[in-house]
Amino acid sequence: MARKTSAVAGGVGTTMPVFAARADGGIVVDVDGNHLIDLGSGIAVTSVGAANPRVVAAVTEQVAAFTHTCFMVTPYDGYVAVAEALNRLTPGDHDKRSALFNSGAEAVENAVKIARAWTGRDAVVVFDHAYHGRTNLTLAMTAKNKPYKHTFGPFAPEVYRVAGSYPYRDGVVDGTAAAARAIDQIEKQIGAENLAALVIEPVQGEGGFIEPAPGFLPALAAWCRASGVVFVADEVQTGFARTGDLFACEREGVVPDLIVTAKGIAGGLPLSAVTGRAEIMSGPHEGGLGGTYGGNPIACAAALAAIETIEAEGLVERAREIETLVKARLTAIQDKDDRIGEVRGRGAMLAVELVRPGGAEPDPRLARDVAKAAHSQGVIVLTCGTYGNVLRFLPPLTIGDALLNDAFDVIAAAFEEIR
Ligand SMILES: Cc1ncc(COP(=O)(O)O)c(C=O)c1O
Repeated sequence: MARKTSAVAGGVGTTMPVFAARADGGIVVDVDGNHLIDLGSGIAVTSVGAANPRVVAAVTEQVAAFTHTCFMVTPYDGYVAVAEALNRLTPGDHDKRSALFNSGAEAVENAVKIARAWTGRDAVVVFDHAYHGRTNLTLAMTAKNKPYKHTFGPFAPEVYRVAGSYPYRDGVVDGTAAAARAIDQIEKQIGAENLAALVIEPVQGEGGFIEPAPGFLPALAAWCRASGVVFVADEVQTGFARTGDLFACEREGVVPDLIVTAKGIAGGLPLSAVTGRAEIMSGPHEGGLGGTYGGNPIACAAALAAIETIEAEGLVERAREIETLVKARLTAIQDKDDRIGEVRGRGAMLAVELVRPGGAEPDPRLARDVAKAAHSQGVIVLTCGTYGNVLRFLPPLTIGDALLNDAFDVIAAAFEEIR
């Protein structure tokens, strides 16, 4: 840590004062030999594990063959195979195309470029509590000031924020009513005819693992279709089996025009994608999309291996089993503790929102203290939320029940101890 402090920019923080030596199967082993239970998956990335044998073999074979040629110079098969897999697996049976990038933020930016090129319009709508990344355009799309935006403006123009759906806090349990409120704001303040894209996380991630009320997403998607607005699902965090569906949009049968994926796509290697309707994806001129490393061959080999693992090992079903186990543990804590305002989430993307006893006032201190106590007992757990009062649980889908139970024993004890 002393070397980190003197070598690494202070703006790059760390959750735990621990340096990883090895990781897989829901365990991170640090350089001192401590074994930590992983309920973070590197922020929802290593869904198939952090050293999955299929991923390791595919990466090893590819790195020995060639590391890089640049797909825009001399293309290679892996990129095309990942595009084919994405076109096959993402919601909807229409004709699709994909383009590959490096990070979630870069893919979100490209989805906006594609929507603007296709519609000839400028405006982009995003939602309260949204998180879409840390580049300049995606910072404009991200809601929360600290730590993400503070001192880093000015931000890109033509990004508009409207109310989303947060049933625990806004009390609107009818998703169509929440959508009508957002649509009214859009029509009055922006005008559908100026709007290129509506970009939404089907379950909001950094904003607090917020599931919209049922009917919210279908109503927005229908309005977009009727208004010629590109409906973009940001499934960077929710995608690839995390929520107990391959993609979170599937739960309500929503078919996005464009879907953005990253994180869980490639077993820990940096890869992201925009996949969507062939006609929309063909909006930009040839050469308009790309980047030196986008769809790097090693990352593509990892993605093909990760996708094969998700399908072969039934990880969508496994995410649902994790939901059953973890929700039972969390509701058992909640039954005895009125500081847990809500237990929520889907699949292996679960959370508790912490509040002051007897009300709904956010309690970020409690979230921080429980996380710290868990860390000191060797459980990696993350916080999130606009109010910083949400503990979130994102175990790898390959973790076993025994480790999950051990971890939630620690978390239950932390709630008992911290008053
Ligand atoms: C929904 C969502 N979109 C975009 C991003 C940005 O992805 P990246 O950090 O890979 O740029 C994230 C990252 O947490 C995310 O959760």
